[in-house]
Amino acid sequence: MDLYCVMGNPVEHSKSPWIHARFAALTGQTLQYGKRLVALGRFADEVHAFFAAGGRGCNVTVPFKFEAAALASRSSERATLAQAANVLTLRAGGIVADNSDGAGLVNDIQCNAGIDLSGRDVLLIGAGGAAAGVLGPLLLARTASITVTNRTRHKADVLAERHQALAAQQQTELVTQSLPDLKRDFDVVINATTSSLSGGGIPVPVNVLKPGALAYDMMYGPAAHGFMRWAEAHGAVARDGLGMLVEQAAEAFLIWRGVRPPSRQVLDELRATMPEPWIADLVRNDRQ
Ligand code: ATR
Repeated sequence: MDLYCVMGNPVEHSKSPWIHARFAALTGQTLQYGKRLVALGRFADEVHAFFAAGGRGCNVTVPFKFEAAALASRSSERATLAQAANVLTLRAGGIVADNSDGAGLVNDIQCNAGIDLSGRDVLLIGAGGAAAGVLGPLLLARTASITVTNRTRHKADVLAERHQALAAQQQTELVTQSLPDLKRDFDVVINATTSSLSGGGIPVPVNVLKPGALAYDMMYGPAAHGFMRWAEAHGAVARDGLGMLVEQAAEAFLIWRGVRPPSRQVLDELRATMPEPWIADLVRNDRQ
């Protein structure tokens, strides 16, 4: 049996085992996919032990994506640009790092939400690991411009600088702005911060939303609800990161098994298992 897993800390909440089990069932692949809670400081040892014990590939989640990119003997172009990896694969020459997060985001927006990113003005909020993973693929989607903003401006500058060659190649304008200087509006606003987890509120002013803009929170579940409610209340179309989760998994499955699974079907199935309390909240608010 081919073995795969997701490693992280925490990892208990992970939906990846369920998603990959559905992909395997729907594509007739035989594999086993588990989850491993990894103690801080033990990541490299756990990865090597997993592959030594017959593991074929693993997904990597918070907080190990940077370490994952650093420990591999080879990295894909997109993992090199992101300096972060969420897919590790054992190949003949050693461990190969890849990053499927950005492809997951772009596929969810374009294929599942049906919004073509080409020619759009995009605001990317955040400059941590999540933002780093998606900037390259957003540039490859032929967006007209991407503005990166972050509470700590310097981190946005460093992230953008690393992507300027790709931006020039794609003829996409790539700039950074500090949060107080955000005076214009955008077609697509992507929240890649962890602000909601720390009770920090909405990190950007409402003027960033064009009427009917797509406001995308890369989180899902209750962590995404505050941003989504705020966006809907100001005329935007809100979307959480559940589709990105399924699409990044589909990309990993393709890397490992050479087969693209029916991700849209699996997203619909997963969505049906999840309550959407933010909709209930909106209804409640309407009634007050
Ligand atoms: P991840 O890997 O999930 O991206 P991270 O690397 O810790 O996590 O990055 C967290 C991001 O959320 C950063 O962009 C962070 O901004 P700073 O670089 O200034 O720390 C952003 N963030 C976290 N809390 C925030 C808050 N309350 N307001 C605005 N941005 C916040």
